[in-house]
Amino acid sequence: MPGMGKLAASILSADLAHLADQVKLVEEHADIIHIDIMDGHFVPPIALGTVVVASLRPYTDRTLHGHLMVEAPESYFDELADAGLEVVSFHHEAVADPGTTIDKARAAGLGAGVTINMQTPTDEVVPYLDRVDDVMLMSIDPGWSGQTLDPGVYPRIEQVRAEIDRRGLDIDVEIDGGVKVDNARRAVDAGATVLVSASGVFQAANPAENARVLRAIANGEAA
Ligand code: DX5
Ligand code: ZN
Repeated sequence: MPGMGKLAASILSADLAHLADQVKLVEEHADIIHIDIMDGHFVPPIALGTVVVASLRPYTDRTLHGHLMVEAPESYFDELADAGLEVVSFHHEAVADPGTTIDKARAAGLGAGVTINMQTPTDEVVPYLDRVDDVMLMSIDPGWSGQTLDPGVYPRIEQVRAEIDRRGLDIDVEIDGGVKVDNARRAVDAGATVLVSASGVFQAANPAENARVLRAIANGEAA
């Protein structure tokens, strides 16, 4: 549906020494600032966290969305909400009972999303579609920016989108990993409404221009 798409600029590959300036550079075209939080257990790296959310919060009015690549994600919800995070996406693979985790996100005052890795069948998220604000489909192994998108994600987006539409739900489908100007349209055609991009924005020669083009593609406009 034209006009409904969003760009989520992932700060993982921004120059973090100048984070507020980096966000300012792209925020005209980024509806969401995507913050990758990693604990060194669910994924090998450690990255970002509550203090980064709190530091950035005064400098942007864009939605701050945390992608929690951590075990026991619910133990961080209150501190992240206090720091100014608005939406949290946890990994289905990291929790025993996603329904309980969704409830805990809501109780903390956070929007709630569920994320699945490429290896997790899309059927696993179907029971939660009417309880979340978004479903995020990884198109890389979580943990690192700069990887190549796995095209196996496209039919997975189509499967989730078909079920959302069949049930008349109004939730976002996000794709995260390897999204670039030259493959983003394929993801949107499959049914993604949010394009998450780190290196496709911040490692580009002109981050603002790439953000503009990606957002136009997300919106179904000619870029
Ligand atoms: C990886 C993160 C992604 C990452 C995307 O685990 O979840 O959000 O920042 O990086 P790119 O867009 O470079 O693949
Ligand atoms: Zn992410």
